[in-house]
Amino acid sequence: MFGDSISRYGRLLVMNREQVLEKLRHLQDPTYRKSMVELNMIRDVMVKESGIAMSVLLSSSSDEEARKSELRALITETLGQEGVADVHIRFRTMSDFEREEAVKKSAVPTPEPVKATPTNVLGEDSKTTFIAVASGKGGVGKSTVAVNLAVALARKGKKVGIIDADIYGFSVPDMMGIEERPEIVDQLIRPIERFGVKVMSMGFFVQDNAPVIWRGPMLGKMLKNFFNEVEWGELDYMVLDLPPGTGDVALDVHQMIPQSKEIIVTTPHATAAFVAARAGAMAIHTNHEIIGIVENMAYYACGQCGHKDYVFGRGGGGKLAEELHTQLLAQIPLGAPDNHPAEPDFSPSIYKADTEAGAMYLEVADAVIHKCEA
Ligand SMILES: Nc1ncnc2c1ncn2[C@@H]1O[C@H](COP(=O)(O)OP(=O)(O)OP(=O)(O)O)[C@@H](O)[C@H]1O
Ligand SMILES: [Mg+2]
Repeated sequence: MFGDSISRYGRLLVMNREQVLEKLRHLQDPTYRKSMVELNMIRDVMVKESGIAMSVLLSSSSDEEARKSELRALITETLGQEGVADVHIRFRTMSDFEREEAVKKSAVPTPEPVKATPTNVLGEDSKTTFIAVASGKGGVGKSTVAVNLAVALARKGKKVGIIDADIYGFSVPDMMGIEERPEIVDQLIRPIERFGVKVMSMGFFVQDNAPVIWRGPMLGKMLKNFFNEVEWGELDYMVLDLPPGTGDVALDVHQMIPQSKEIIVTTPHATAAFVAARAGAMAIHTNHEIIGIVENMAYYACGQCGHKDYVFGRGGGGKLAEELHTQLLAQIPLGAPDNHPAEPDFSPSIYKADTEAGAMYLEVADAVIHKCEA
């Protein structure tokens, strides 16, 4: 077994292939958060007289050079401690197939095709109305609208879930003031319930706010897991907080949930509304019915005299509604919720029902219910 580990000069090359892999087992892959050896990302280990050669797979191409140097240093040092002077490493980026294999082995739940089960809100018998909250550009308040609409629907007595479909830029748990993590019961993830809304987010599975660097096909699979592997129970409404724009994930969601309806969020500025029209075009293209437009940050109302200042321009929401042949559901003013961290149910972004914005969201909920249940 040690045959090819003994050099011509009789010097024992200290390790065989298995031992090399054992020594490298501690190397973690940042994407899949698991040992690179267990993920089969260290391959073709050859122990020769002259040293050890191997192939190392890379999971992410961003910062690839830095990752290569880091791995080269770690591997050389680890094997150097075992007396191996010469390590030859070939790096290569993982193929899509290899990524899928890694996903299966990783800590991330294994994706499965969408199938109808009693817990599956996407099933054929599902009575759940899906409402995707979309926008043309980032930072206009999609997540704020999504969480407040979900809570408002719950305040109206509806059974509501929310999926934070912004896999990279998840923000829903934080916005709703959720600090706990979901449990797994009978192989299903039990969503966290907050303000009467069942919540699922990638944020629950990422430690210490680490960046998420999954790409391409992975994203769609994570989303599918949010439908398949989560114990949603019966829901009247499932709100989806989409990532900004009309990129891959937004398209995935559109295609994955063909029956979804949509609310488009814009600021009142003409340019924002123009960009939001592209999100509208995507909705129309994928046959999603647009329930209406929410114009967010519509104006600033002076606390003293109530005078409205249209700081971000005016009319964008109305114009967009006209263009997309839909309704302007609300014009939400500027102003963060006046919530206090000492309150037992504190959240940074949920407006209380008895505030002006809270009441506006209840009206949006009424309009949604009217449109979806009429
Ligand atoms: N009406 C408002 N008044 C004041 N601040 C607001 C309002 N709506 C949203 N915000 C704030 O603006 C910021 C962006 O809002 P939010 O995260 O909801 O936008 P988004 O469209 O989901 O962003 P992203 O594209 O990054 O997902 C947040 O800090 C949020 O608290
Ligand atoms: Mg957001």
